[in-house]
Amino acid sequence: MSDPTGARRYFLETWGCQMNELDSQRMAGQLMQDGLLPTHEPLEADVILLNSCSVREKAAQKVYSRLGEYRLFKKDRPSLRIGLCGCVAQQEGQRALDRVPDLDFVLGPARVGELRSILARREAGERVLATGFPEHREFDIDAVSRDGSHKGMVTLIEGCNKRCTFCIVPTTRGPERSRSLRDILAEVRHLLDYGFLEIELLGQTVNHWRDPELDLDFADLLAAIAPMSGLRRLRFLTSYPRDFTPRMVEQVGAHANICPFIHLPVQSGSDRVLRRMGRGYSVDEFRQLVRDLRAVREGLAISTDFIVGFPGETLEDHQASLDLITECRFATLFAFKYSPRPGTAALKLGDGVEDVESSRRLQELFDVQNAIQLELNEELVGATLEVLVTGWGRQAGTLTGRSPCHRIVHFPANASASPRIGQLAQIVIERAMPHSLLGQEVSIP
Ligand code: SAH
Ligand code: F3S
Repeated sequence: MSDPTGARRYFLETWGCQMNELDSQRMAGQLMQDGLLPTHEPLEADVILLNSCSVREKAAQKVYSRLGEYRLFKKDRPSLRIGLCGCVAQQEGQRALDRVPDLDFVLGPARVGELRSILARREAGERVLATGFPEHREFDIDAVSRDGSHKGMVTLIEGCNKRCTFCIVPTTRGPERSRSLRDILAEVRHLLDYGFLEIELLGQTVNHWRDPELDLDFADLLAAIAPMSGLRRLRFLTSYPRDFTPRMVEQVGAHANICPFIHLPVQSGSDRVLRRMGRGYSVDEFRQLVRDLRAVREGLAISTDFIVGFPGETLEDHQASLDLITECRFATLFAFKYSPRPGTAALKLGDGVEDVESSRRLQELFDVQNAIQLELNEELVGATLEVLVTGWGRQAGTLTGRSPCHRIVHFPANASASPRIGQLAQIVIERAMPHSLLGQEVSIP
């Protein structure tokens, strides 16, 4: 099936983290500059890109099953081009080209900016393998399709230099590289001028940013960005607990437009497990950081990540995680069963936890968290929250958005002057659920 208008189209599927989301916007932007239009229908696409995640095994498997489906489209459309992008691309490299004969190219995360030249090379006959971490990277801030997004995402750091023993990211995204303050400020200005009210700063360890030449750290960067005119919401992701300095904490307290929401992955509530994970901080240090952050910012919502069933995790360790959850009262929590990843140090640890037991621990953790989340959300009933609209709600006639503390808020889109995606609305909260809030738009007299 080809497009009846004769336009060339691309279909792009994205898994994983915000960095992949931004990489997808960058790939879409390059294709659009070449005159391709987006489609939600893979069957009518001329180019299919799978932007993959390899942080857990399931996500990595999924992309291969998708490749198996899409390659069949080539029977009717030999001109179709299929590219494997993202972290699985970097991890698998040539293996992916060998395994999937109809795959046209493999594009690693550090090579995203080369998409157009890679497609051109494919047209010249080469099945292109573009992986690795070149010194020079293409990055054209004008070739980013941010359409439909409510926020402007800006990369601060590519890659990661930590060596958490469970994590594949340093292998798939390469060594850490901070962008210069000058480039970052220029991109933020560009996005604010374009009309974005919210800016999200990205890095695997975003608060480890340092200017490559000047003696400036993440605290200086926040101090430089927060006062920029037009910036209503500043968020950053992901903070590494050990890299949070008192000066950074101070900045979080100093600027009202820094969102009162911080994602601070702890991974475990047991020092013994944290040591085996190579995280480099203790549970007490994490607790203290949470206290310090809350002391400078009233109503600060903190979210976190946990891994359950890490090799050697005992029932006592698991209980320590549950206790930390009860103590810290996280606003949201992402938890995952440990997934062994190729080439990581944790593979050598032994003492694996049975899958059924890991599932049980995961469920227990969610049960404790859900009850806390419901209580925290119920405290917001009656409050008026400023909501940044992120899209249409699942129910017809509703809109969805995020409060400054990053809670999901649904509300009817009935007002005649209903806000658009990326705009702000004042919502009175009427009902709380564990994972979202319901409310009504405050009518402006
Ligand atoms: N610095 C990034 C880490 C990316 S991975 C960040 O904090 O966003 C995101 C989360 O996935 C991690 O915090 C961890 O909780 C989880 N994760 C990473 N590797 C994992 C693995 N091998 N098994 C299970 N969960 C994992
Ligand atoms: Fe992974 Fe640890 Fe870096 S979780 S992304 S190695 S901070």
